[in-house]
Amino acid sequence: MDISVIGSGYVGTTIAACFADLGHSVVNIDVDADVVEAINAGDTLIHEEGLPELVAKHAGENGTGRLRATTNYEALLETDVTFLCLPTPQYDDGSIDLSIIETGAEQLGETLKGKSGWHTVVVKSTVVPGTTDDVLTPIIESASGRTAGEDVGVGMNPEFLREGTAVTDFLDPDKIVLGADDERTRRDMQEVFAPLEAETGAPVVETDTRTAEMIKYANNAFLATKVSLINDLGNICKEFGIDAYEVADAIGLDDRISEQFLRSGVGWGGSCFPKDVAAIIAAAKANDYEPTVLEAAVELNDKQPERLLELLDSHVDVEGERVAVLGLAFKPGTDDTRNSRAIEVIEGLQARGARVVGYDPVATENMRERFPDVTYAESAAEALEGAVGAVVVTDWDEFAALDDGFEAMKELVVVDGRRIIEPTPKITYEGLTW
Ligand code: UGA
Repeated sequence: MDISVIGSGYVGTTIAACFADLGHSVVNIDVDADVVEAINAGDTLIHEEGLPELVAKHAGENGTGRLRATTNYEALLETDVTFLCLPTPQYDDGSIDLSIIETGAEQLGETLKGKSGWHTVVVKSTVVPGTTDDVLTPIIESASGRTAGEDVGVGMNPEFLREGTAVTDFLDPDKIVLGADDERTRRDMQEVFAPLEAETGAPVVETDTRTAEMIKYANNAFLATKVSLINDLGNICKEFGIDAYEVADAIGLDDRISEQFLRSGVGWGGSCFPKDVAAIIAAAKANDYEPTVLEAAVELNDKQPERLLELLDSHVDVEGERVAVLGLAFKPGTDDTRNSRAIEVIEGLQARGARVVGYDPVATENMRERFPDVTYAESAAEALEGAVGAVVVTDWDEFAALDDGFEAMKELVVVDGRRIIEPTPKITYEGLTW
């Protein structure tokens, strides 16, 4: 099939390259000329494992020719289906800002005036239930002069890609969710995903656009709440001197619970869980419903960094002293510091008058933008030198091998928020939930 993908962020570029890999002919449309130039040279500015290889395989001089990029919306006229992968940032009240995707939908609709016959549009961006039907479809209809279900279709296909493993998550999905409100749109979406379904046998969930939108929020809200629940139980374990990881291993054997997302600690961050949970809470409240459990999940998540610091307080007074923060990224395998728990940890240490020294193998520059006054070390060992305490915020593997590294500390107090450090008799070790 001929597919256009509007937006070249980590989702847009990943799906464009993966669709090309599945045999489709794909054009990726983006306003940023540098991004477009990179793709056309067989390269990408997005750091995702396996993505540079896929882009090189299908774009550029030595590629299969199945992937190209352009800044020109007219390119979508040569395609059957257009995926909208534009960002939906967050307002202060948690609700999502649709202005970028609305502008994209309008431009897409305007461009469609130049095409005769049917065109299918698929919303890939995460949007609250009803957005496709109530907001985006009317914009596309009025800009294109078309009628949904007659000569244009608007479907919704949520993404479940994790940062760092987006390519494998796409090519080996747990499920494929196709939301459509008419048969023709549904058929086009089935055709796009048929090669993936055939290759992987992944279950295909066919539903309407509103339900597809809700499935995305329910998925992320459930997982975030699962982590908050294991953190709540983990905090109880700590009070009783019980190891929450031993408990999690046991309850994870129950198929109804499953072993995944049971790692307790300093909580969840990133660009997805915090934003999506906030957005569905805001949407629920706008409909006069109080989502009690989701609000509690956020409240608990917000408190974990302070619990970590209180454990440190119980061993040392950090005022005027050097404290090492090990890990700045919201999870290992990424340089993304958005909503990282390290932010609250650094703020809490600064409020205590500590001299913070941060270390992360890849995320330092992103954290430096947020905290230019913090000292950043080149290695974990350097961060630990002369520190009265170390707090672990990201479970990078290299922290498991620090061993003697702690001996350069002024006081050997380590508070682990991710269960990654191997405690030795020489260090005073506190696990957040064990
Ligand atoms: C998440 C979802 O997992 C994806 O399915 C979804 O597509 C994506 O959001 C999105 O909406 O785009 P991601 O934000 O990349 O993916 O990160 P996760 O791997 O899910 O981790 C989220 C946070 O939870 C991290 O801070 C991680 O450290 C924390 N976490 C995860 C725990 O604290 N404990 C766990 O057991 C698992």
